[in-house]
Amino acid sequence: MRHNLASIRREYSLQQLTRDSVHPDPLVQFKKWLSEALEAQVNEPTAMTLATAGSDGKPAARIVLLKDVNEQGLSFYTNYKSRKGRQLEANPFAALVFFWPELERQVRFEGHTVKLPATESDQYFSSRPEDSKTGAWASKQSSIISSREELEKKACQCAEQFAGREIPRPGFWGGYRLLVDSVEFWQGRESRLHDRIRYNKIGSDSNRETTGSSDHIDNTGNKKSAERKGTEGNNKPDGKESRISSGARESWTIVRLSP
Ligand SMILES: Cc1cc2nc3c(=O)[nH]c(=O)nc-3n(C[C@H](O)[C@H](O)[C@H](O)COP(=O)(O)O)c2cc1C
Repeated sequence: MRHNLASIRREYSLQQLTRDSVHPDPLVQFKKWLSEALEAQVNEPTAMTLATAGSDGKPAARIVLLKDVNEQGLSFYTNYKSRKGRQLEANPFAALVFFWPELERQVRFEGHTVKLPATESDQYFSSRPEDSKTGAWASKQSSIISSREELEKKACQCAEQFAGREIPRPGFWGGYRLLVDSVEFWQGRESRLHDRIRYNKIGSDSNRETTGSSDHIDNTGNKKSAERKGTEGNNKPDGKESRISSGARESWTIVRLSP
């Protein structure tokens, strides 16, 4: 290779991120960053890496597109019989990662997936262009095929089969929603001293593994710090404060992590 990979590095200096400036609800904070990514016209703002592991525990990762985000979580669509679909069937836990280099930002989600209700998948499927609909019927995603011609022939057959009528959603194709247990916002900073702010849902495993500092915030954004309540709360004896916040539905601890 002509390139010296070891010498490739970039300084990050665009912005900073503090525990006090983030929204108490991580999904609201995410929507704010996503809007900024859209406004900045970053490349593929909705592309996210989806990591899954089946019953053998071996992870696999690939890009999928975010199609919705609401207070319940993040949605994407795929073939339920694909490799990822089979892995999620065996083990619903998954992680999603966004990287927006133009903004020097990364967002990481962990949680478990549920299939979207059929009506929600139907609605999204019906909004897709015709050739995407026939493509979904034609592709046995992740299976071995003999040639590109085989795939194109199948797509043509499906297009003929459905010509002149509404193309229904295949039963093997639909959406998943990641129900979020933890979210980490990463903002690149100078000298590799990046800002990392992580939310852990209270009651989830991710919260139990928390070390570091967090604060208590209610859903109006007011701090419910241990001092005001007159209790030790989540303030740790080593001086690492905890911030706890309540979003629309959940309560979260918010901690700063070492880069
Ligand atoms: C930019 C981009 C967007 C993609 N979006 C999706 C998607 O939304 N859904 C999907 O099933 N595959 C999508 N893919 C293809 C997947 O990365 C992957 O190749 C495919 O889903 C098969 O993965 P699997 O064999 O692990 O199941 C996308 C790939 C790229 C590069």
